Amino acid sequence: MKSALALLAAPLVAALPSDMGKASALKQRQAPVSIHEAFVGAGKEFFGAATDQGLLQREPNAAIIRANFGQVTHENSMKWGSLEANRGSYNWGPADEVVDWAVANGQLVRGHTLIWHSQLPQWVEGITDAEELREVIRNHVSTTVGRYAGRIHHWDVVNEILAEDGSLRDSVFSRVLGEEFVKIAFEVARETDPSAVLYINDYNLDQANYGKVNGMVSLVQKWVNEGVPIDGIAALEQLASAPVGEVAITELDIAQAPVEDYTAVVQACLNVEKCTAITVWGVGDADSWRRGEDPLLFDNNFNPKPAYDAIIDLLS
Ligand code: G3I
Repeated sequence: MKSALALLAAPLVAALPSDMGKASALKQRQAPVSIHEAFVGAGKEFFGAATDQGLLQREPNAAIIRANFGQVTHENSMKWGSLEANRGSYNWGPADEVVDWAVANGQLVRGHTLIWHSQLPQWVEGITDAEELREVIRNHVSTTVGRYAGRIHHWDVVNEILAEDGSLRDSVFSRVLGEEFVKIAFEVARETDPSAVLYINDYNLDQANYGKVNGMVSLVQKWVNEGVPIDGIAALEQLASAPVGEVAITELDIAQAPVEDYTAVVQACLNVEKCTAITVWGVGDADSWRRGEDPLLFDNNFNPKPAYDAIIDLLS
Protein backbone atom coordinates (compact mmCIF):
# COMPACT_ATOMS: atom_id res chain seq x y z
CA MET A 1 0.00 0.00 0.00
CA LYS A 2 2.89 2.32 0.70
CA SER A 3 4.08 1.98 -2.86
CA ALA A 4 0.60 2.99 -4.03
CA LEU A 5 1.13 6.23 -2.15
CA ALA A 6 4.53 6.73 -3.65
CA LEU A 7 2.90 6.40 -7.06
CA LEU A 8 0.32 8.99 -6.13
CA ALA A 9 3.04 11.32 -4.91
CA ALA A 10 5.21 10.95 -7.98
CA PRO A 11 3.10 12.83 -10.55
CA LEU A 12 2.60 15.77 -8.19
CA VAL A 13 6.30 16.24 -7.60
CA ALA A 14 7.30 15.50 -11.18
CA ALA A 15 4.84 18.08 -12.52
CA LEU A 16 6.54 20.88 -10.61
CA PRO A 17 9.11 22.79 -12.68
CA SER A 18 12.46 22.66 -10.90
CA ASP A 19 12.76 26.47 -10.79
CA MET A 20 9.52 27.18 -8.97
CA GLY A 21 11.53 27.87 -5.83
CA LYS A 22 10.04 28.03 -2.39
CA ALA A 23 6.42 27.48 -3.36
CA SER A 24 7.14 24.14 -5.00
CA ALA A 25 9.35 23.04 -2.11
CA LEU A 26 6.45 23.67 0.24
CA LYS A 27 4.06 21.79 -2.00
CA GLN A 28 6.31 18.75 -2.00
CA ARG A 29 6.28 18.68 1.74
CA GLN A 30 2.51 18.48 1.95
CA ALA A 31 1.08 15.02 1.74
CA PRO A 32 -0.45 14.27 -1.67
CA VAL A 33 -3.71 13.00 -0.18
CA SER A 34 -5.64 14.95 2.46
CA ILE A 35 -6.18 12.89 5.61
CA HIS A 36 -9.21 15.09 6.29
CA GLU A 37 -10.81 14.36 2.93
CA ALA A 38 -10.08 10.64 3.28
CA PHE A 39 -11.69 10.62 6.75
CA VAL A 40 -14.72 12.57 5.53
CA GLY A 41 -14.95 10.04 2.70
CA ALA A 42 -15.21 7.34 5.38
CA GLY A 43 -18.26 9.11 6.81
CA LYS A 44 -16.61 11.15 9.55
CA GLU A 45 -16.81 14.87 10.22
CA PHE A 46 -13.19 16.03 10.27
CA PHE A 47 -9.52 15.22 10.83
CA GLY A 48 -7.81 18.22 12.39
CA ALA A 49 -4.61 19.45 13.99
CA ALA A 50 -3.74 21.69 16.91
CA THR A 51 -1.92 24.87 15.97
CA ASP A 52 -1.55 28.45 17.10
CA GLN A 53 -0.85 31.98 15.91
CA GLY A 54 2.96 31.73 15.86
CA LEU A 55 2.90 28.31 14.18
CA LEU A 56 0.53 29.44 11.45
CA GLN A 57 2.90 32.28 10.60
CA ARG A 58 5.75 29.80 10.17
CA GLU A 59 5.50 27.90 6.88
CA PRO A 60 4.79 25.21 5.97
CA ASN A 61 2.39 24.80 8.90
CA ALA A 62 -0.41 26.80 7.33
CA ALA A 63 0.09 25.21 3.92
CA ILE A 64 -0.05 21.69 5.37
CA ILE A 65 -3.15 22.37 7.43
CA ARG A 66 -4.86 23.94 4.43
CA ALA A 67 -3.97 21.01 2.17
CA ASN A 68 -4.20 18.03 4.52
CA PHE A 69 -6.44 18.85 7.51
CA GLY A 70 -9.96 20.19 7.97
CA GLN A 71 -10.06 21.56 11.50
CA VAL A 72 -7.84 23.40 13.99
CA THR A 73 -7.66 23.59 17.77
CA HIS A 74 -5.77 26.44 19.46
CA GLU A 75 -2.86 24.82 21.29
CA ASN A 76 -2.62 27.55 23.94
CA SER A 77 -4.06 30.93 22.96
CA MET A 78 -7.72 30.18 23.80
CA LYS A 79 -6.94 29.11 27.38
CA TRP A 80 -8.12 31.39 30.17
CA GLY A 81 -4.56 32.22 31.26
CA SER A 82 -3.80 33.45 27.73
CA LEU A 83 -7.04 35.40 27.30
CA GLU A 84 -7.39 37.15 30.65
CA ALA A 85 -4.18 36.91 32.71
CA ASN A 86 -5.23 40.17 34.38
CA ARG A 87 -8.82 40.47 35.46
CA GLY A 88 -10.94 42.42 32.98
CA SER A 89 -8.10 42.94 30.50
CA TYR A 90 -8.43 40.64 27.48
CA ASN A 91 -5.79 39.52 25.03
CA TRP A 92 -7.87 38.33 22.07
CA GLY A 93 -5.27 38.91 19.34
CA PRO A 94 -3.67 35.45 19.01
CA ALA A 95 -6.94 33.52 19.45
CA ASP A 96 -8.72 35.80 16.97
CA GLU A 97 -5.98 35.30 14.40
CA VAL A 98 -6.38 31.54 14.47
CA VAL A 99 -10.17 31.77 14.16
CA ASP A 100 -9.97 34.34 11.35
CA TRP A 101 -7.41 32.22 9.49
CA ALA A 102 -9.51 29.09 9.93
CA VAL A 103 -12.68 30.72 8.66
CA ALA A 104 -10.83 32.24 5.69
CA ASN A 105 -9.36 28.82 4.85
CA GLY A 106 -12.44 26.67 5.27
CA GLN A 107 -11.30 24.98 8.50
CA LEU A 108 -13.59 24.14 11.42
CA VAL A 109 -12.47 25.31 14.87
CA ARG A 110 -12.58 23.53 18.23
CA GLY A 111 -12.64 25.98 21.12
CA HIS A 112 -10.11 24.75 23.66
CA THR A 113 -10.90 25.36 26.45
CA LEU A 114 -13.26 27.30 28.75
CA ILE A 115 -12.82 25.77 32.22
CA TRP A 116 -9.51 24.06 33.06
CA HIS A 117 -7.49 23.85 36.29
CA SER A 118 -4.23 24.49 34.38
CA GLN A 119 -3.06 27.60 32.50
CA LEU A 120 -5.55 29.42 34.70
CA PRO A 121 -4.97 33.04 35.80
CA GLN A 122 -3.71 33.48 39.36
CA TRP A 123 -6.63 35.79 40.13
CA VAL A 124 -9.11 33.00 39.37
CA GLU A 125 -7.09 30.46 41.40
CA GLY A 126 -7.35 32.78 44.38
CA ILE A 127 -11.15 33.08 44.49
CA THR A 128 -12.70 31.60 47.64
CA ASP A 129 -16.21 33.06 47.53
CA ALA A 130 -18.79 30.82 45.80
CA GLU A 131 -20.97 33.61 44.41
CA GLU A 132 -17.95 35.46 43.05
CA LEU A 133 -16.68 32.31 41.31
CA ARG A 134 -20.12 31.58 39.80
CA GLU A 135 -20.20 35.09 38.38
CA VAL A 136 -16.63 34.90 37.09
CA ILE A 137 -17.36 31.58 35.31
CA ARG A 138 -20.59 32.92 33.78
CA ASN A 139 -18.80 36.00 32.56
CA HIS A 140 -15.83 34.11 31.11
CA VAL A 141 -18.00 31.56 29.29
CA SER A 142 -20.49 34.06 27.88
CA THR A 143 -17.79 36.55 26.82
CA THR A 144 -15.63 33.94 25.10
CA VAL A 145 -18.36 31.83 23.49
CA GLY A 146 -20.21 35.02 22.50
CA ARG A 147 -17.18 36.48 20.75
CA TYR A 148 -16.87 33.46 18.47
CA ALA A 149 -20.55 32.52 18.14
CA GLY A 150 -21.22 30.95 14.75
CA ARG A 151 -17.49 30.53 14.05
CA ILE A 152 -16.51 27.93 16.66
CA HIS A 153 -18.52 24.77 16.19
CA HIS A 154 -17.23 22.62 19.06
CA TRP A 155 -16.27 23.78 22.53
CA ASP A 156 -14.30 21.89 25.16
CA VAL A 157 -16.46 23.46 27.85
CA VAL A 158 -14.75 21.70 30.74
CA ASN A 159 -11.33 20.12 30.40
CA GLU A 160 -9.64 17.36 32.44
CA ILE A 161 -11.96 17.74 35.42
CA LEU A 162 -11.70 14.10 36.58
CA ALA A 163 -9.04 12.38 38.69
CA GLU A 164 -7.81 8.94 37.59
CA ASP A 165 -10.27 7.22 39.96
CA GLY A 166 -13.21 8.91 38.24
CA SER A 167 -13.97 11.44 40.98
CA LEU A 168 -13.85 15.21 40.47
CA ARG A 169 -10.28 16.50 40.36
CA ASP A 170 -9.22 18.97 43.01
CA SER A 171 -9.25 22.52 41.58
CA VAL A 172 -10.48 25.95 42.59
CA PHE A 173 -13.70 25.08 40.77
CA SER A 174 -14.38 21.80 42.62
CA ARG A 175 -13.19 23.16 45.98
CA VAL A 176 -15.41 26.24 45.92
CA LEU A 177 -18.44 24.98 43.97
CA GLY A 178 -18.37 21.17 43.92
CA GLU A 179 -19.98 19.81 40.73
CA GLU A 180 -22.02 22.95 40.24
CA PHE A 181 -19.37 24.60 38.03
CA VAL A 182 -20.00 21.98 35.34
CA LYS A 183 -23.69 22.83 35.16
CA ILE A 184 -23.03 26.58 35.11
CA ALA A 185 -20.41 26.35 32.36
CA PHE A 186 -22.49 24.13 30.05
CA GLU A 187 -25.70 26.08 30.59
CA VAL A 188 -24.10 29.44 29.87
CA ALA A 189 -22.29 28.04 26.81
CA ARG A 190 -25.60 26.62 25.47
CA GLU A 191 -27.47 29.90 26.08
CA THR A 192 -24.71 31.95 24.46
CA ASP A 193 -24.34 29.90 21.26
CA PRO A 194 -27.13 27.34 20.87
CA SER A 195 -25.56 26.04 17.66
CA ALA A 196 -22.22 25.00 19.21
CA VAL A 197 -21.57 21.35 20.08
CA LEU A 198 -20.57 21.22 23.75
CA TYR A 199 -17.93 18.75 24.89
CA ILE A 200 -16.48 17.43 28.11
CA ASN A 201 -12.81 16.69 27.32
CA ASP A 202 -10.31 14.48 29.16
CA TYR A 203 -7.28 12.20 28.73
CA ASN A 204 -6.56 8.59 29.74
CA LEU A 205 -9.98 7.55 28.50
CA ASP A 206 -8.71 4.84 26.21
CA GLN A 207 -9.10 1.76 28.48
CA ALA A 208 -12.45 0.06 29.01
CA ASN A 209 -13.60 -0.34 32.62
CA TYR A 210 -10.96 1.99 33.96
CA GLY A 211 -11.95 4.13 36.97
CA LYS A 212 -11.81 7.41 35.09
CA VAL A 213 -13.84 6.05 32.17
CA ASN A 214 -16.45 4.58 34.51
CA GLY A 215 -16.59 7.87 36.43
CA MET A 216 -16.97 9.83 33.21
CA VAL A 217 -19.84 7.66 31.97
CA SER A 218 -21.76 7.76 35.23
CA LEU A 219 -21.20 11.47 35.91
CA VAL A 220 -22.21 12.45 32.37
CA GLN A 221 -25.26 10.17 32.69
CA LYS A 222 -26.23 11.91 35.92
CA TRP A 223 -25.56 15.43 34.62
CA VAL A 224 -27.47 14.88 31.37
CA ASN A 225 -30.40 13.48 33.40
CA GLU A 226 -30.28 16.64 35.49
CA GLY A 227 -30.57 18.68 32.28
CA VAL A 228 -26.94 19.74 31.81
CA PRO A 229 -26.55 20.29 28.04
CA ILE A 230 -23.50 18.08 27.29
CA ASP A 231 -23.36 16.99 23.62
CA GLY A 232 -20.11 15.06 23.40
CA ILE A 233 -17.24 13.33 25.18
CA ALA A 234 -13.71 12.81 23.93
CA ALA A 235 -13.16 8.98 23.31
CA LEU A 236 -14.74 5.94 22.67
CA GLU A 237 -16.91 2.81 22.89
CA GLN A 238 -17.73 2.77 26.58
CA LEU A 239 -17.98 6.55 26.53
CA ALA A 240 -20.31 6.39 23.56
CA SER A 241 -22.66 4.46 25.83
CA ALA A 242 -23.23 7.63 27.87
CA PRO A 243 -26.25 9.65 26.69
CA VAL A 244 -24.39 12.05 24.43
CA GLY A 245 -24.76 12.48 20.68
CA GLU A 246 -21.09 12.06 19.84
CA VAL A 247 -17.55 11.27 20.96
CA ALA A 248 -14.25 12.40 19.41
CA ILE A 249 -10.50 12.00 19.77
CA THR A 250 -9.39 15.53 20.43
CA GLU A 251 -5.66 15.60 21.30
CA LEU A 252 -3.95 12.66 19.64
CA ASP A 253 -0.19 12.17 19.77
CA ILE A 254 1.67 8.86 20.19
CA ALA A 255 5.37 8.61 21.11
CA GLN A 256 7.41 7.62 18.00
CA ALA A 257 4.15 7.59 16.00
CA PRO A 258 3.98 3.80 15.46
CA VAL A 259 2.00 2.91 12.36
CA GLU A 260 0.03 0.19 14.16
CA ASP A 261 -1.02 2.48 17.01
CA TYR A 262 -2.09 5.38 14.82
CA THR A 263 -4.06 3.10 12.52
CA ALA A 264 -5.63 1.37 15.55
CA VAL A 265 -6.90 4.73 16.82
CA VAL A 266 -8.35 5.65 13.44
CA GLN A 267 -9.88 2.17 13.13
CA ALA A 268 -11.40 2.55 16.62
CA CYS A 269 -13.07 5.79 15.54
CA LEU A 270 -14.32 4.12 12.35
CA ASN A 271 -15.76 1.26 14.45
CA VAL A 272 -17.74 3.53 16.75
CA GLU A 273 -20.59 5.22 14.94
CA LYS A 274 -20.79 8.07 17.45
CA CYS A 275 -17.09 8.89 16.91
CA THR A 276 -17.18 11.90 14.64
CA ALA A 277 -13.66 13.30 14.47
CA ILE A 278 -9.95 13.12 15.27
CA THR A 279 -7.57 16.00 15.99
CA VAL A 280 -3.81 15.45 16.27
CA TRP A 281 -1.96 17.64 18.79
CA GLY A 282 0.17 19.50 16.26
CA VAL A 283 1.46 19.17 12.69
CA GLY A 284 5.25 18.62 12.74
CA ASP A 285 7.36 16.86 15.39
CA ALA A 286 9.62 19.89 15.84
CA ASP A 287 6.68 21.83 17.25
CA SER A 288 5.26 19.11 19.49
CA TRP A 289 5.11 19.91 23.19
CA ARG A 290 6.38 16.30 23.73
CA ARG A 291 9.93 17.23 22.79
CA GLY A 292 12.05 14.42 21.42
CA GLU A 293 9.20 11.89 21.24
CA ASP A 294 8.35 12.49 17.58
CA PRO A 295 4.66 11.77 18.23
CA LEU A 296 3.01 13.53 15.25
CA LEU A 297 2.15 12.70 11.63
CA PHE A 298 4.74 15.00 9.99
CA ASP A 299 8.48 14.87 10.75
CA ASN A 300 10.91 17.66 11.69
CA ASN A 301 11.11 18.64 8.02
CA PHE A 302 7.34 18.56 7.60
CA ASN A 303 7.35 15.40 5.50
CA PRO A 304 4.41 13.05 6.07
CA LYS A 305 5.50 10.04 8.14
CA PRO A 306 4.64 6.34 7.63
CA ALA A 307 1.73 6.65 10.07
CA TYR A 308 0.18 9.34 7.86
CA ASP A 309 0.51 7.15 4.77
CA ALA A 310 -0.83 4.12 6.63
CA ILE A 311 -3.94 6.03 7.72
CA ILE A 312 -4.53 7.10 4.13
CA ASP A 313 -4.17 3.44 3.07
CA LEU A 314 -6.63 2.38 5.75
CA LEU A 315 -9.16 4.95 4.64
CA SER A 316 -8.88 4.30 0.93
O1 G3I B 1 4.11 31.57 26.72
C1 G3I B 1 5.16 31.30 27.66
C2 G3I B 1 6.36 32.11 27.34
O2 G3I B 1 6.06 33.48 27.49
C3 G3I B 1 7.50 31.69 28.27
O3 G3I B 1 8.66 32.36 27.92
C4 G3I B 1 7.74 30.19 28.19
C5 G3I B 1 8.80 29.70 29.17
O4 G3I B 1 8.59 28.36 29.56
O5 G3I B 1 6.55 29.53 28.48
C6 G3I B 1 5.51 29.83 27.59
O6 G3I B 1 4.38 29.12 28.01
C7 G3I B 1 4.37 27.74 27.70
C8 G3I B 1 3.13 27.48 26.86
O7 G3I B 1 2.98 26.09 26.63
C9 G3I B 1 3.17 28.20 25.51
O8 G3I B 1 4.24 27.74 24.76
C10 G3I B 1 4.30 26.93 28.99
O9 G3I B 1 5.51 27.08 29.72
C11 G3I B 1 4.03 25.49 28.70
O10 G3I B 1 3.80 24.80 29.92
C12 G3I B 1 2.81 25.35 27.82
O11 G3I B 1 2.63 23.97 27.54
C13 G3I B 1 1.35 23.62 27.02
C14 G3I B 1 0.64 22.65 27.98
O12 G3I B 1 -0.60 22.29 27.41
C15 G3I B 1 0.40 23.28 29.33
O13 G3I B 1 -0.29 22.40 30.15
C16 G3I B 1 1.55 22.93 25.69
O14 G3I B 1 2.11 23.86 24.76
C17 G3I B 1 0.22 22.41 25.17
O15 G3I B 1 0.45 21.59 24.04
C18 G3I B 1 -0.45 21.55 26.23
O16 G3I B 1 -1.73 21.17 25.74
C19 G3I B 1 -2.50 20.34 26.62
C20 G3I B 1 -3.98 20.60 26.39
O17 G3I B 1 -4.25 21.98 26.43
C21 G3I B 1 -4.83 19.83 27.38
N1 G3I B 1 -4.51 18.44 27.39
C22 G3I B 1 -3.07 18.10 27.48
C23 G3I B 1 -2.35 18.84 26.39
C24 G3I B 1 -0.98 18.32 26.14
O18 G3I B 1 -1.11 17.00 25.62
